[in-house]
Amino acid sequence: MTEPIKTADVTIIGGGVIGLAIARALAQRGARDVLIVERSSLGAEASSAAAGMLAPQAEADSAGDFFQLCCQSRDLYPAFAQSLYEETGIDIELETSGTLYLAFTEEDERELEQRYQWQTRAGLEVEKLSAEAARLHEPCISDGVRAALRFPFDTQVENRRLISALATANEALGVNVWTGVSVDSLKLNRNRVTGIETSRGFVACEKVVIAGGAWTSQVINEALPNPRIEPVRGQMVSFEATPQIARHVIYSPRGYIVPRRDGRLLAGSTTEHAGFDKRVTAAGVQSIVASALEITPAIAALPLASTWAGLRPRAADGLPVLGPCAEIAGAFYATGHYRNGILLTPITAELLANVIVDEEVSPPLQIFSPDRFQLVSSR
Ligand code: GLY
Repeated sequence: MTEPIKTADVTIIGGGVIGLAIARALAQRGARDVLIVERSSLGAEASSAAAGMLAPQAEADSAGDFFQLCCQSRDLYPAFAQSLYEETGIDIELETSGTLYLAFTEEDERELEQRYQWQTRAGLEVEKLSAEAARLHEPCISDGVRAALRFPFDTQVENRRLISALATANEALGVNVWTGVSVDSLKLNRNRVTGIETSRGFVACEKVVIAGGAWTSQVINEALPNPRIEPVRGQMVSFEATPQIARHVIYSPRGYIVPRRDGRLLAGSTTEHAGFDKRVTAAGVQSIVASALEITPAIAALPLASTWAGLRPRAADGLPVLGPCAEIAGAFYATGHYRNGILLTPITAELLANVIVDEEVSPPLQIFSPDRFQLVSSR
């Protein structure tokens, strides 16, 4: 083995919001010598491409462990945003206006009714609105709206400000960050992590957190469980909306719009299996604009500001992959967040810091454990 160019107590592979938030949580709990290794720049991939919705109730089709995890994380956001503000002076623009979900067809109405029923049965806060009542909340919505739900606690955050806040907090805490450095492999001795081989050389460390998003599968060793993370492209469009035309995040079953304080109005998204191709396509933009126009015809007059695409990291079963693996001591996963990376950031950081620092394997880490997948070598 080559001489290490660096040693670290914990190395985190991936400098998106998940890796950044785990690093911060570790440093806050007294972990010394935390290193983030990022192949591009901090937050360059799904973290900055996201639309920042914190909307488990609007997006979930049923109750269950995953839904509960999402709600828990959403509910951590007010304290998370406040502490980031105190540490960095950066306001991550956590909104409290709520989320609207609109129905345009009979089928949409059935879907809304189902969602309303199971969520009220579960004791969750959700309001059923007539089209007229929905229009009082958002005068911009289309005449085609038949009914709506309002989720007062589902909301949004400015994900690019979240990246800046986390990066600044880590800098103040003394977290080391390498950007533009790729990880070739994890190095193991018997069943223990000994370090990582990077494009800058070998880093010796006993604990590694795999938070590589869509690139996860490229770094895991054949002795590790393979969640078969695949990239799922989501295209986005942003419009200039000054003055802003909406207050809420507004969904339909076909798309969503997200008003931002800086006058941008984001619209999304597509769900495509296109490998690592992050290009925007005419068909993608067409479908996003059509869904946004269905929500509000006011979009038609707005200047189009920009388009982009991100790669959502989806595990084979579509669920997050969190915590230690039984086979290899020192290997931790924090990946596979798919459509919910921004939403699940605070809870992921808390769960991972608890297990790394205090060896606390809480129930979510059992449910979402990497051990539910086979080893790479056994495929
Ligand atoms: N969570 C929204 C999306 O993935 O498009």
